Amino acid sequence: MDRGDEPHRPLLKKPKGRDLELEAGSRAHFEDAAYYSQTYADRVEDVAFYVQLARKVPRVLEYGIGNGRIAIPLARHGVRVTGIDLSRTMLADLRARLRAEPPEVRARVAAKAGDMRRVKLQERFPLVLCTFNTALHLYEREDVEAWLARVREHLAPGGELVFDISMPILEDLTRDPRRAYRTPPFRHPTAGRVSYAEHFDYDRLRQILFVSMIFEPVKGRGNVDNQSFMTPLAHRQFFPREMEALLHYNGFAVESVHGDFSGGPLSPTSDVMVFRARTRRGVR
Ligand SMILES: C[S@@+](CC[C@H](N)C(=O)[O-])C[C@H]1O[C@@H](n2cnc3c(N)ncnc32)[C@H](O)[C@@H]1O
Repeated sequence: MDRGDEPHRPLLKKPKGRDLELEAGSRAHFEDAAYYSQTYADRVEDVAFYVQLARKVPRVLEYGIGNGRIAIPLARHGVRVTGIDLSRTMLADLRARLRAEPPEVRARVAAKAGDMRRVKLQERFPLVLCTFNTALHLYEREDVEAWLARVREHLAPGGELVFDISMPILEDLTRDPRRAYRTPPFRHPTAGRVSYAEHFDYDRLRQILFVSMIFEPVKGRGNVDNQSFMTPLAHRQFFPREMEALLHYNGFAVESVHGDFSGGPLSPTSDVMVFRARTRRGVR
């Protein structure tokens, strides 16, 4: 190719050093555990699904255990959960929530701060979970490869990897980043009454959706601090066949992909993909 034809920004060029935008996008949303819990309080189908699945095995490894939204119900059903999470804030909240549980439930949960691409435990599990979009914080192929290598190291022979990630929603990916998508004001557990807006900015080359969540305290409603603030969230967008290929070329056979937590088929309108996979024969 003539050098003059080279694309301005090569597709596979990666930022050098730490990418602060991605670091913020994988951490900031998990810095306020009270807000996290309030926001996802109604998300219950995934909890029921993972409980049904995990109660068949004595113990599981959960990547992205967070503050135990799924792990605590698992432990209440007798499952021993080992969890890994990057966020010390979420893990502190998990410990606080466990203090309110009976001692036998508390004893079933062991959580460790760390990165799912790196942590090595000297233990194997019949079931490895990576729950609620945690895998969307694996931004580059190398991140996925490192994570799947850790999964292989932690799976017992015949064991299963189960994870759920959002299906890319084309409307979200084509939104004008300058446009604010507003919801009615609500009571934020730490900031008081706020108005709320989201901006969506999709990076088509890196396949990363940057969401900016903007909170503006509503004045005159007893708010102690009237500062507005923005929380960034960065989610890698994995298309169904892309994830299937990543699993395949990292030694896994996909056994099923469902489009909801009730075993429904993946369809063009599904907003979630639930992957179930095992290591391929002969792969360690
Ligand atoms: C959406 S939350 C899910 C938490 C919990 N499983 C739930 O369902 O509520 C995603 C979690 O992944 C964690 N996380 C993000 N990147 C990670 C990484 N590289 N290694 C370990 N945990 C990570 C975040 O700190 C966060 O707690």
